[in-house]
Amino acid sequence: MSARFTVLAAALVVGSLAWLPHRSTAAPAPLATLARTPPMGWNSWNHFSCNVDEQTIRETADAMVSSGMRDAGYRYIVIDDCWQVSRDANGALVADPQRFPHGIKALADYVHSKGLRFGIYTDAGTNTCQGRPGTLGHEDQDARTFASWGVDYVKEDWCHAQHLDAPIQYAKFRDALSRTGRPIVLSICEWGSNQPWEWAPRIGNLWRTTDDIEDTWSSMLDNLDQSAQHATAARPGAWNDPDMLEVGNGGMTAEEYRAHFSLWAIMAAPLIAGNDLRHMTPEAVETLTNREVIAVDQDSLGAQGILVWERPPELQVWAKPLRDGSRAIALLNRSSSPARITASFARAGLRSDSADVRDLWSHADLGRFGREFATTVPGHGVVLVRATSVR
Ligand code: GLA
Repeated sequence: MSARFTVLAAALVVGSLAWLPHRSTAAPAPLATLARTPPMGWNSWNHFSCNVDEQTIRETADAMVSSGMRDAGYRYIVIDDCWQVSRDANGALVADPQRFPHGIKALADYVHSKGLRFGIYTDAGTNTCQGRPGTLGHEDQDARTFASWGVDYVKEDWCHAQHLDAPIQYAKFRDALSRTGRPIVLSICEWGSNQPWEWAPRIGNLWRTTDDIEDTWSSMLDNLDQSAQHATAARPGAWNDPDMLEVGNGGMTAEEYRAHFSLWAIMAAPLIAGNDLRHMTPEAVETLTNREVIAVDQDSLGAQGILVWERPPELQVWAKPLRDGSRAIALLNRSSSPARITASFARAGLRSDSADVRDLWSHADLGRFGREFATTVPGHGVVLVRATSVR
């Protein structure tokens, strides 16, 4: 059975369950009160990798405001790996003094002064993926350091940690964060290697489901297919994370980036931009700030959309139920040439014969349709609509 077929089979089996409230135990406060909708923000890794410094982060915060991204809902500015160089005599993490001469606290203050929140990166093991000091054995100390700097979000990676038990180790850090008394979002990053969808909803606010995304159409689709298998685990406060966005990084076409953004919204994925916000094309800004698509992602029902129809190997329909009873429907053409795709309203979970359909990229009401909506979808593209039952 092909990987995509397995995904379809799994999606169909769990399809009806996916949209029911989930039963497992809630995360402890204050964690459970955070990220009631998928976190939105920016992270340095996809574009800058280790090349981070305080000037870049400040300019990024400025650009998040001036581009309109803050007003569209983006909140967290997250510095990924390589900000840290060592531990001091007391064991506290030390930021690179050349790259962050004013220290992390001053940078967090600056980010906060822009009406944004501040995030940072560490690793559950002895070292980060880039060989910087990790948090193993320093859980309480690092949590206290982060809280004293005004950190609002921590991404905890899993390099040099493979010998450890992931649920135990992440719970240790969650408890350390809780003891600081500061509300801090916990982003679990063990790449889906220990079935995090089974335990991470009780421990973190989001958990990676895949290896690192690359700025290519095929990598984006791989991450979609893998994250889609765990739709039942997602709920307010706890989200599958198919990795950060590549929109604006240049490896895909504008059409492909619109598809990427649409599919992340359908999956209720965290929307963490990963491009250089200081130098964006108008198309990148338009994609990242499309409020109608963001509203799909941020819908308060908090259900992850699922695959509801497929003509293998390339034509698919995905649907996400929204709080008001309507459905966001993505018609995805994975092939490289245009194709006609039909979305059945019944398959998408609507219970009426006809529905009003609105296109969320052209921002146009397309009219009233009976039983189904069909359209031609460009190659490597998505048509994303919102369908509302007519009663
Ligand atoms: C891992 C993570 C990435 C990034 C790098 C940093 O690969 O999955 O998202 O944080 O480490 O080294």
